[in-house]
Amino acid sequence: MRRLTMTMTATAALMTAGMTHAADVEVLHWWTAGGEAAALNVLKEDLAGQGIGWEDMPVAGGGGTQAMTVLRARVTSGNAPTAVQMLGFDITDWAKEGALANLNDIAAENGWDEVVPAALQKFSKYDGEWVAAPVNVHSTNWVWADKSLMDELGIDQPQTWDDFIAALDKAKEAGLTPLAHGGQAWQDGTLFDAVLLATGGPDFYQKTMIDLDPEALGSDTMKQVFDRMGVLRGYVDDNFSGRDWNLATAMVINDEAVFQMMGDWAKGEFLNAGQTPGEDFLCFRFPDTQEQVLFNSDQFAMFSQGDAVSDEQAALATAIMSPGFQIAFNKVKGSVPARTDLDVGELDACGQQGYEEFKAAASSGNLFGSFAHGHANPAGVKNAMYDVITAHFNGEYDSETAVEELVTAVEINM
Ligand code: GAL
Repeated sequence: MRRLTMTMTATAALMTAGMTHAADVEVLHWWTAGGEAAALNVLKEDLAGQGIGWEDMPVAGGGGTQAMTVLRARVTSGNAPTAVQMLGFDITDWAKEGALANLNDIAAENGWDEVVPAALQKFSKYDGEWVAAPVNVHSTNWVWADKSLMDELGIDQPQTWDDFIAALDKAKEAGLTPLAHGGQAWQDGTLFDAVLLATGGPDFYQKTMIDLDPEALGSDTMKQVFDRMGVLRGYVDDNFSGRDWNLATAMVINDEAVFQMMGDWAKGEFLNAGQTPGEDFLCFRFPDTQEQVLFNSDQFAMFSQGDAVSDEQAALATAIMSPGFQIAFNKVKGSVPARTDLDVGELDACGQQGYEEFKAAASSGNLFGSFAHGHANPAGVKNAMYDVITAHFNGEYDSETAVEELVTAVEINM
């Protein structure tokens, strides 16, 4: 029945778009880890069910930095893919360039305005026009923990920064890797996002990462944030440099490390390895950020191939936003639906918690775009911040220098 409904909606969208024949969609994305690929399959199969073929254009590299570089090259050479996975301000940047297809008719037909939360619409729309279809909402301020190791070491779920440090110390004393981490700029940035929120609180997050206020960026609180990053660096193993995020997750899955701080795409890896939340692993908010949600939403933007949106682009956008697909996909991906009108009883405990917290944070002013995932400030600023954070994490700057460099980086790239 669900399939029938989706197919009919897609057909309606095709008619709206005034197109008649379906071809393949070429989709550029960075979902190459096990859990990510499994989620992507849900989308491929949905389209296959509608007779639409899938031309895969994967660009490995968590967070999508490499994917965005490849995209730029493709567009420059006049060969844009049909559809592209994209985050936050990158969507706005491409829309500004006039590169994206207008999805207004599909959005109107399917009532997107009513069901997509404002925080996401900010990026799905440009100048009042729909230019992207959000497939999910991830949130980044999570910790993933090995339950058996926590039990063995007598570690309770840490509620505060001090609890967290005490837990990391216990793991260290036991000869385990306390914190699984991959030394890549976007991963360092993901850690920084949570540490900054935990240290300075929501107003500080708003002022620094979103408003880019020079005074807050250069404050003593910011120095404390860098000091804390230095403390966490002491709990990471020697081989962290360049490690992919999913390999860091595997360290927790394989009982080598106790914790990983990562967005909830990490859950996709645990599930893909056959693990169960609450039994094999735990998910909890980064200590001292329990009231807030740092979000990023994967969206699919369609590159203009001519005057109107093509029939396969319309079908893809329609499928992505359909209620049945949003549940099926997000169950596997680790994220939660991008629409607020769904019953998420089918999601696991972490997913249900994430969905409720996302909605609660949105209505209490505690929802913030993740800087590390392009939802707090534009790519130019984000990349400049990454450089400073990574240099500090690798011991090239002390905290004081890092604060000065951060202020300068933002000033130059704003
Ligand atoms: C994020 C993206 C997620 C996940 C992650 C690691 O930026 O939103 O869907 O793919 O990168 O690759």
